[in-house]
Amino acid sequence: DRLPELLRRMPKAELHIHIEGSLEPELMFEMARRNDVKLAYSSVDELRRAYDFNNLQSFLDIYYAGASVLQTEQDFYDMCWAYLERAHADRVLRAEIFFDPQTHTVRGVPMGAVIEGLHRACQDAQTQLGIDAELILCFLRHLSEQEALDTLEEALPWRDRFIGVGLDSSEVGHPPEKFARVFARCGELGLHRVAHAGEEGPPAYIWSALDVLKAERIDHGVQSSKDAKLMQRLAQQRTALTVCPLSNLKLCVFPQLAQHNIRQLLEAGLAVTVNSDDPAYFGGYLNTNFIEIFAATGMDAGHAYQLARNSFEASFADAATRQRDI
Ligand code: HPA
Ligand code: ZN
Repeated sequence: DRLPELLRRMPKAELHIHIEGSLEPELMFEMARRNDVKLAYSSVDELRRAYDFNNLQSFLDIYYAGASVLQTEQDFYDMCWAYLERAHADRVLRAEIFFDPQTHTVRGVPMGAVIEGLHRACQDAQTQLGIDAELILCFLRHLSEQEALDTLEEALPWRDRFIGVGLDSSEVGHPPEKFARVFARCGELGLHRVAHAGEEGPPAYIWSALDVLKAERIDHGVQSSKDAKLMQRLAQQRTALTVCPLSNLKLCVFPQLAQHNIRQLLEAGLAVTVNSDDPAYFGGYLNTNFIEIFAATGMDAGHAYQLARNSFEASFADAATRQRDI
């Protein structure tokens, strides 16, 4: 069977990766040591054993605790560089990388340390690996809209270091419309807009991400299959969904990968893409996501080609890259 080899070697764009979710336990312990931060686990193995989640919140609690080791610009550089080298091995040519500044600024880490560290890794990836990497600043939806507005203001001195904004963290109870004003402001600033919606939350959250936030892509969006009208709209507009199969499995959005609806969404004409979300926590980088979801759902080389093409078309790269001949 040559399908895994095709999946591994085909060029691809990754559009849904939280950089804090790429922090591997080994690097986390190294940073804890050098920054004198105490972790709640005594070893890499003990930490890995705690990666047993039953929903989004059970993951987020551990993910935010892990991020506490990140303190200096060099820490952000090292984390991002490690991801980019790993992505390069998976033949990622374009990466649009989420980061959560509020997770860090609340602990007293300067905004500049976060953004400059990540940005420098993206620049080095361009020159040393040939990867085109860009940053997307995410607002934490469990916090207030005023805190998001303040975070945007604080990041504006680095406006040219990120191409867009996103919305992540605890979904249910925090609908997109809570962030209507800050997203409107981001639109005025010429920033791209994306939002997590329909990971655990209802189709109504996808509707409001589109209509209120003017989201250009929906992160996850797998709950759209519960709403036929929404499916029609997403297919007709070709609004991309950045689907993350192993994340959905680990957070129990689907009981098994064989029950995942990605193939159904793709065959209904939606602009589906495959992504890794938080690869250090969910058991695999991009190629592992491709290989496992293909094995579980019986997708073939035709699906692979469509998913790879969708990833470039849905990216915020220039037109030549988006229409790349793959
Ligand atoms: N959903 C919401 N917030 C997140 C995620 C996710 O999958 N990963 C990191 N932050
Ligand atoms: Zn995500």
